[in-house]
This record gives sequence, structure tokens and C-alpha cells, in this order.
Amino acid sequence: MRIDILTLFPQIFELPFRIGIFQRAIDNKLIDVNIHNIRDYTLDKHHIADDYPYGGGAGMVLKPEPIFRAVDIIKKKMDAGEEAPFVISLTPRGRLFSQAIAQELSLKNHLILICGHYEGVDERVHQYLATDEISIGDYVLSGGEPAALVVVDAITRLIPGVLGSPDSLADDSHTNGLLEYPQYTRPAIFREWQVPEILLSGNHANIAEWRRRQSILRTLKRRPELLEKVKLNSKERRYINRLLNAPSEEKLD
Ligand code: 6GU
Repeated sequence: MRIDILTLFPQIFELPFRIGIFQRAIDNKLIDVNIHNIRDYTLDKHHIADDYPYGGGAGMVLKPEPIFRAVDIIKKKMDAGEEAPFVISLTPRGRLFSQAIAQELSLKNHLILICGHYEGVDERVHQYLATDEISIGDYVLSGGEPAALVVVDAITRLIPGVLGSPDSLADDSHTNGLLEYPQYTRPAIFREWQVPEILLSGNHANIAEWRRRQSILRTLKRRPELLEKVKLNSKERRYINRLLNAPSEEKLD
């Protein structure tokens, strides 16, 4: 997958892509990440990428010309017959990013991510250039760069061959709609706190059931709205009803 990131702060991306799963994915040619400074696509002497908002108001707005020019140049360099890139604007007013969107985007050949800044980006970028607008949550960041890293991370680890063990994807929080169960490693006793006995039992069927119940319990406590979308069998449904009807809070701990 080719990923182009358009930003006013290219330095932000220097370190993250040289570390860990990004570095491995790049070294193994599973992703090809190109960072572009939006200022490099301006044509004026002072490389001005932003301007005052029409109609007045606080802050500055990113100008459309350098962003359109950058995307045009990236598109021109593509091979004939290549699929058109998917252009995503990162903005707090976009649709909420999720594991499902990460999965959908991980199947694309080419993504262009536009990192917004200041009060925003000229609306014509959203209207005529971007295929999608994405937000990573209901809070405001000073720029789209951390959001671009979040989106690229979530997508990259879904690309076949990036993670050592594809099995680990199946149990991820959110992949099956539930939060992940608790994990433990050695030592079995740490500061008198014991690892749950069942995990040491070697009984894989019991362990799987315990983990599934822990996932359900956690989801019920922390993100009950997620449970509505999860497929549960009748035994699991009864388990939830028991928890919900528990007389004390204790059972939910
Ligand atoms: Cl994508 N950008 C900014 N600036 N703030 C955000 C965001 C994006 N997602 C949540 N907050």
C-alpha cells in the first residue's frame, strides 16, 4: 500500500515511521510512506499555505491551491492503470474512525492523508478533492498529524504480513466487537497477586470460555453500548442477564 501524507509539520513523522511495526512494514515493502510538506507546493515567494477566513472569525484556514497541487502531482506520478488514490481529510468533523473503517481502508492500494490545521481546511478540499473525512474521536487536536499516525497504525497492522502472528488480530479489542480479556505473563505470583488459576490449568476449552466471559464482563462495565452489536449465544446471553440482575455491584468487578 502506498500512503502519502500532506502536512505542514513533516518533522512529526520522522521518528514514528523509523520504529517498530512501521519500520518493519516499510523495510518489507508492505507500505510505502511518503511525507509531503504542503508549503513545498505553494508557488508564492513566502510559501504561504494559510489565509484569513472569509466572513471573519478567529484563526487561519489552509488554502486549497497547494493541497490540490500536491494531490495532482502525486496522481501524475502514478503508473498507468493504477487505481485512483483514496483521499482522506483528517478533521474533527469527519466520520468517527473505527476498527471497521481501518479494515475497509486496509484493502486500498493508495491512500492520501491530508492533515488539517488551524481553524480548518478550505471547504473545497473536502468537497472536490477528499473522498472521505475522518475524525479519531470527540476531542479537538491542534492538528491532524497525530490522527494520521493513529489511522496509519490501525491500518498497517491489518495488512497481511505486517504482524508476526495473524492470530493475534482475531482477539484484539474491537475486532469481535468486545473489549479484550485480561492478559497475564510470568511470574505466576507477583507481590502476592496471583494469576487466575484457570490460565495455569492447561484446559484450553475452559480458558477460552473464561476469556470470552471476561471480554463480555469488561465490555458490559466499560462500553455497554458495544454489546448491542455483538453476536452472543444463548448461554452468553444468560450470563449477561445474570450479571445485570446481580443484587450487588460486586459481581461486575
Ligand atoms: Cl482528525 N483532527 C483534529 N485536528 N482534531 C481531531 C481529529 C482530527 N480527530 C479528533 N480530533
